[in-house]
Order: sequence, then C-alpha cells, then structure tokens
Amino acid sequence: MLSIRELDCEVAGRALFDSLELELASGTSLAITGPSGSGKSTLLSCVMGLVRPAGGTVHVAGTDITRLRGAALARHRSARIGMVFQFGELLPELSPLDNVALAALLAGTDRHTAYARARELLSELGVPTAASSEDLSGGERQRTAVARALVNAPALLLADEPTGALDAATREKVSDILFAMPARYRCGLLVVTHDPAVAERADRVLALADGVLVPAGRDAAAGR
Ligand SMILES: Nc1ncnc2c1ncn2[C@@H]1O[C@H](COP(=O)(O)OP(=O)(O)O)[C@@H](O)[C@H]1O
Ligand SMILES: [Mg+2]
Repeated sequence: MLSIRELDCEVAGRALFDSLELELASGTSLAITGPSGSGKSTLLSCVMGLVRPAGGTVHVAGTDITRLRGAALARHRSARIGMVFQFGELLPELSPLDNVALAALLAGTDRHTAYARARELLSELGVPTAASSEDLSGGERQRTAVARALVNAPALLLADEPTGALDAATREKVSDILFAMPARYRCGLLVVTHDPAVAERADRVLALADGVLVPAGRDAAAGR
C-alpha cells in the first residue's frame, strides 16, 4: 500500500533522511515515533507529495508519487490518501457534516453520495449533529477529522500526532477508532505519535533516528 525506497530529503539545507526505507501493507498499522525535529511530519509530507524528496521513490497504492505533478498528483492524493492532523484542522464555521462531505465533493463525488457517505461515517464514529464544528468537543472534532480522512475510501490513512491535543480518556477513544480502521476498511494506517500508549497499539513501531527508521517499542525489545 505504501512503499518507500532510498528516500533522501533536504529541508532548509539539512539532510533529513538517509536512504530511508518503509513498507506498509494494506490492513495493517504502523506507528512512527522520534524526537521533535527528527523529520516525522516531513516524512508524511513526502508521502502526500507536498514535499518533493531529493531522491528515492514513494509508491502509494502502486503509483510512484514522486513522478506525479500538479493536477495528477492532487487527484492521486485526494483519491488514495486520508490525513488526520493534530488539531483536526476542520473549517470551524462549517458543520461536521459539511466538513466531511466537502472532502468528497472536492474529490469529484456527486452531492447526494458525498452527503450520504459523510452522514454514515459520522454516525459510525459517534459524532453528534452540530450546526458548527466549533460546538464540538476536542474528541468529537478529532473523530470528525477521521471521518473526513476516510470519506474517499483511501488506500492509506495518515495521522500526525492525532491525539496530541486530547485528554487521556478522549485519547483512548480516538485511538480505538483509528486503529480499528485498517481491519474495517483494509487501508494501511501510518500514525506519527509521541505517545507510547498510542504507538503500542500499532502492528509495528518504528523510530525515526538519524534519518532512518529503526525498530522501537516492543519491536526493539523483541529484536525485530
Ligand atoms: N518548511 C520548513 N522550512 C524550514 N525548515 C523546516 C520546514 N519544515 C520542517 N523544517 C525543519 O525540518 C526538521 C524536521 O521537521 P519536522 O518534520 O516537522 O519534524 P518532527 O515532525 O519530527 O518534529 C526540523 O528541524 C524543522 O525545523
Ligand atoms: Mg511533527
């Protein structure tokens, strides 16, 4: 689902990755940890095609996105990738339903289908009907962000510190939802997190250190 080979990337004149390699199969989850500034968010940006690497390939659902440009890249991203940000990044003046449906409309889905899918996902993820996203709790906003990331049935679900702004109980609920998604939708899930309790729920845990990914958490303890 996601295959990264020999990835090199420079940000502000500094080499962040050193021939970085990564494989993620559909229906499985992977957590990436690592110190602040190690390049975790930049890695996700490379996977989304928002940052162009200096070298290497990034295959998402069979297509090397480093070879795509402009509209073709945007189409591939919107059809294949769903992204959840740390602070949800919803449009606050829109309802949760409009936030989720908008992502489907922008991907070219017709209005009726977009709203039907959005309604179904929000109800499945337990988000109440609200006039504006500002009226939701932090956890509800984050669940709306997950619904928005899923509305185009992505092959790959990415999340950058998805629980970083939540309290402990809400963190648990949002993690429950996120980690249920690979089995439910057969997508690959890649989560960047500082939180060991969240990381440990993934099928595999890797740490980004000195530009490469190394086994971490229980994977390191098991010598894998
Ligand atoms: N747009 C940018 N311009 C300049 N430096 C950047 C930019 N984005 C990230 N960086 C730098 O690249 C490094 C990695 O950043 P980032 O990927 O955000 O790390 P992490 O998510 O692991 O905290 C940091 O040193 C950061 O300051
Ligand atoms: Mg980051």
